[in-house]
Amino acid sequence: MDDDSSASRGDAFHSSGDAYDSTGDAFVSAGDASVSAGGNTGGTRAGGPSETPSGAAAATGRATTPSATPGEDTGPAAPGAAGTAGAEPDASALERFRALLREQRVWDTGDAGLPAFDTERAPDGPLALFHRWFAEAAEAGQPEPHTMTLATVDAGGLPDARIVMLHDADARGWHFATHSTSAKGSQLAAHPRAALTFYWHSQARAVRLRGRIVPAYAAETSADLHARSTGALAAALAARQSEVLESREELARAYEAAWQRARRDPEAEATSWTGYVLEPEEAEFFQGDAARQHVRLRYRRGTAGPDVWTRELLWP
Ligand SMILES: Cc1cc2nc3c(=O)[nH]c(=O)nc-3n(C[C@H](O)[C@H](O)[C@H](O)COP(=O)(O)O)c2cc1C
Repeated sequence: MDDDSSASRGDAFHSSGDAYDSTGDAFVSAGDASVSAGGNTGGTRAGGPSETPSGAAAATGRATTPSATPGEDTGPAAPGAAGTAGAEPDASALERFRALLREQRVWDTGDAGLPAFDTERAPDGPLALFHRWFAEAAEAGQPEPHTMTLATVDAGGLPDARIVMLHDADARGWHFATHSTSAKGSQLAAHPRAALTFYWHSQARAVRLRGRIVPAYAAETSADLHARSTGALAAALAARQSEVLESREELARAYEAAWQRARRDPEAEATSWTGYVLEPEEAEFFQGDAARQHVRLRYRRGTAGPDVWTRELLWP
């Protein structure tokens, strides 16, 4: 985990806190009364599939178990040992989950509305638009706008994805850092191609990038790490990311040692900590719209030169 708690450097691409607070979803509201919580037997649904991903299961009549009082466990005994949760939720827990899921909303603009996206006036390349949207997301109060999903593929062709932090976005591409020895590091070594996705729900915006992965310069990765917090350096020094952990105590011991070393030697080198740059071949900017006329603008690197991009709209 990349603990980035340095608040004082004034670098726009570094977060000011180390708590990965997952609250604050502006689109979660009970605004659409036409979809009732718990009404999952194929009844009235005004929304589309993006609103209620489990709607298909409800429509097939698979979830017909009567509702239970929240917290009440009416299902059969869990198969796990006494005192442990079973591997599968019982029917009432599943029912409660589905009811809760159906309450969730997206594209719920409230009074603020969503930004317009004038694609005619979009910049010639994706980097300038990304910088603009990033600044607007930060200004709009989007929590952690510099976090993104990094998708890779493993040796067997199975996709993988996880959250990482953006360290820079410049003419070379979109920069992130991780352990080269981690699962994603091994995957990138074998298949140096990846996708990145940002989702800025405050403005119903998403950005997708796909392309080749190249290593960042070692010196710039080292400088970037050492400009960050002691916690970030400690996490990088601890290494062993993605290995099986034998016990929490083992982790506590390793981190204590890593923190001590980071405090003692702030210039210590974390050998596996590696910078990567995604050079986009494609970049898509998605602006959500309350009436579902979402706007999608895709940039594709042209054949006329690396800095020449073709732009096209996509059906939402
Ligand atoms: C908000 C957030 C930011 C993160 N940033 C990073 C990061 O910059 N680098 C990193 O290696 N892991 C980061 N992580 C942890 C990764 O999501 C992931 O758990 C870890 O890198 C191991 O992934 P892997 O096993 O697929 O290699 C972050 C997690 C969260 C929730």
